[in-house]
Amino acid sequence: MAEHIQVLISEEDVCKRIGELARRISEDYAGKTLHLICILKGSLFFTCELAKRLTVPVTIDCMSVSSYGAGTSSSGVVRLQKDLDETIEGRDVLVIEDIIDSGRTLSYLLGNLAARRPESLRLCTLLDKPDRRVCEVHVDYTGFEIPDQFVVGFGLDFDQRYRNLPFIGVLNFD
Ligand code: IMP
Ligand code: MG
Repeated sequence: MAEHIQVLISEEDVCKRIGELARRISEDYAGKTLHLICILKGSLFFTCELAKRLTVPVTIDCMSVSSYGAGTSSSGVVRLQKDLDETIEGRDVLVIEDIIDSGRTLSYLLGNLAARRPESLRLCTLLDKPDRRVCEVHVDYTGFEIPDQFVVGFGLDFDQRYRNLPFIGVLNFD
């Protein structure tokens, strides 16, 4: 089966939107140090681009969870693959996610992180597919709402490929 990728959001538009998000987040956290949690691996590129544009002091940690196998549909099983290096107790935490689909990953993750007693806990996602939601998740900052299509690029993969595309594209098969 051949794979085709069609540009959905250009690199220029993604970066422009990340700049807007960074401005809002910097205002909201004025006077504080923001602790970013990058959800590997999909959020790597988004976390970097966002962090570079934030004007408040920032610290960064990473964790890895999986709810998908090698295909394009959720397995429904969330697994913690790599935990944080540092404690988040008493810190202002912003979770950075690449995309929210069913919401299962975030719903598990936010519950897990809230139990560690951060000072505050918010969620920022580059992409949101609201039509696909199974678990309710409160999103504080959203880059783009997109239709129910499988996308790759800017950190998002299909079977670990395409993460390095500088734009967000829709993946089709024929
Ligand atoms: P959820 O638990 O169903 O919300 O799935 C979230 C995770 O599934 C994301 O962090 C991605 O890793 C993956 N995912 C969901 N939709 C897509 C997509 O369109 N392209 C690539 N990965 C996706
Ligand atoms: Mg992910």
